[in-house]
Amino acid sequence: MRSASLQRYSQFASELVEFGPLYAIANFRIQSPLPLDPSGNWEFWNGQRPAWLESLARAYPPESKRKISLDAMLNRDHASGIEAHYDVSNEFYALFLDTKYRFYTCAEFLSNQDTLEEAQTHKAEHIRSLLKLNGNENILDLGCGWGAMLKYLQDVGHQGALTGFTLSKEQLAYDQQTLGLDVALTNFITDPFEPDAYDRIFSIGAIEHVKPAELAALYQKIYDALVPGGLAVHQFFSFGHEPYPASSVCLQLFFPGSLLVMHCKHLEAAKSAGFRITHDSIHDYKPTIRAWYDRLVENRKAAQALVGTEVYNRYMTFFPIAWLFFQQQEADLHRVVMEKLDVER
Ligand SMILES: C[S@@+](CC[C@H](N)C(=O)[O-])C[C@H]1O[C@@H](n2cnc3c(N)ncnc32)[C@H](O)[C@@H]1O
Repeated sequence: MRSASLQRYSQFASELVEFGPLYAIANFRIQSPLPLDPSGNWEFWNGQRPAWLESLARAYPPESKRKISLDAMLNRDHASGIEAHYDVSNEFYALFLDTKYRFYTCAEFLSNQDTLEEAQTHKAEHIRSLLKLNGNENILDLGCGWGAMLKYLQDVGHQGALTGFTLSKEQLAYDQQTLGLDVALTNFITDPFEPDAYDRIFSIGAIEHVKPAELAALYQKIYDALVPGGLAVHQFFSFGHEPYPASSVCLQLFFPGSLLVMHCKHLEAAKSAGFRITHDSIHDYKPTIRAWYDRLVENRKAAQALVGTEVYNRYMTFFPIAWLFFQQQEADLHRVVMEKLDVER
């Protein structure tokens, strides 16, 4: 016990120097042998902090050092990064996601009275409206998670083919066995797509896993896989100001091997592929994050029984840090519509 505690402190000291205060403090708290106190933990991350600590957390490590650390961390292959975050336990995720669809992405709260279930349905409705569907389109969902949007489209009577790709084996099992969806374990970044095969391609909260160097080729592949006149719709969050903020190192604790891309780079890559951008709106992720946090807290005992204290503490740390990240506008959540021009028109 004593040596585990000593080891935790010595790891904290070395991570403080190597990866900065945000990363080191988050990891130290995740490894607490006790479950984190819900209100104290939220306040710890989102309450008032001395200005010197705030400045240190934003400035250290300096950008050149962050880049070196991130380059090493990004060497990890896609599948193991996805496994580390998503293949924790389907039952665990069900404890805090909406019970109707299990979306693990930003919902649309139209009022403070909305439940998480209602807010996720509003989001699905908005994305459906952006997809401009007549009901018969052949649709591909990149990074389909627990099949939420595909299931929603089935529920509203979509008749065309619905296909999903995921890299998570746990999600795949749920999608195929529980929902009976046409979902494949396919890496949408590295695997080829059939050209001119889909009327619509969308992704919700998956493009965040695409590394900066992979972006241009992915947009080109999506463009080529759409029929002329086809649409791509992406919901994702992206950095607004700088490519390597201090938080990008800390986020490796939660999404190992992934690094967000600057928003302008997404738009440039889409345009270079040939797309015309017809819509780009910004939405607030914070109410969804808070709703997940509250539900996880309500289900603490079941969560600890399923995944143990460290994983419980990891999500208890992830949610307030993510909330802070959006509160400080390091990144914004966008919905973007891209049109492949119909050459015949
Ligand atoms: C945050 S979840 C979002 C899931 C779902 N779209 C939703 O709205 O709930 C991200 C999804 O992207 C998938 N993903 C990430 N990188 C991928 C890749 N390279 N190939 C296939 N799926 C990927 C993950 O497996 C996961 O299903």
